[in-house]
Amino acid sequence: MSERSIKEPEIFFDNQTGQLTSPVITVSKKLLSGLENVFKNEAVRASMDQEQVVYEVECYFPVEEGKKGGLFWGVSRIYPGKVAGEYFMTRGHFHSESDTAEFYWGIAGKGVLVCMDTNGQSWAEYLKPNSLHYIAGNVAHRVANIGNESLIFGACWLSDAGHDYASIEQNGFSVRLVDLNGKPTLIEAW
Ligand code: PA5
Ligand code: NI
Repeated sequence: MSERSIKEPEIFFDNQTGQLTSPVITVSKKLLSGLENVFKNEAVRASMDQEQVVYEVECYFPVEEGKKGGLFWGVSRIYPGKVAGEYFMTRGHFHSESDTAEFYWGIAGKGVLVCMDTNGQSWAEYLKPNSLHYIAGNVAHRVANIGNESLIFGACWLSDAGHDYASIEQNGFSVRLVDLNGKPTLIEAW
């Protein structure tokens, strides 16, 4: 009888903290300087510390971007903060392969997932530890941190999905999430 070795895993994901440990992680940071025209009050954003990190994403890309049939894994961390009452949030995007879906799930902190379809119809749901969100194809998605701590959430998407930021850059979402008297409130943006 010949013995075969059992490999140790190379990649770890901590469900409590969102910490991804792998020899092959890509980290990207979004500073306030890189979020021009994302928030309603651009003048206030421009007057704030441009070096402030609003969010960062750690990704594990087991295959090259664009390859059909593969999966990508990412953990996003949005820091607490506001721009003139509007919560720190991700830019938001449709996927380039527009009909591809994605899973998000909450790990730590308090957030809201804002979605919008291609007709500009928007809706939102709370994102919190252990919440699971299926984001269908042709739905733009953005997350805001409504708490006082970091909001951490996981994501899994297709390696050929791609990110289409252009239409959100041009038209934005049809709703915005603002702090009104201490309460996260969804308001019409257009
Ligand atoms: O794939 C996703 O949807 C996420 O990993 C996002 O890319 C991440 O949350 C950052 O948001 P955005 O890409 O909109 O800047
Ligand atoms: Ni996405």
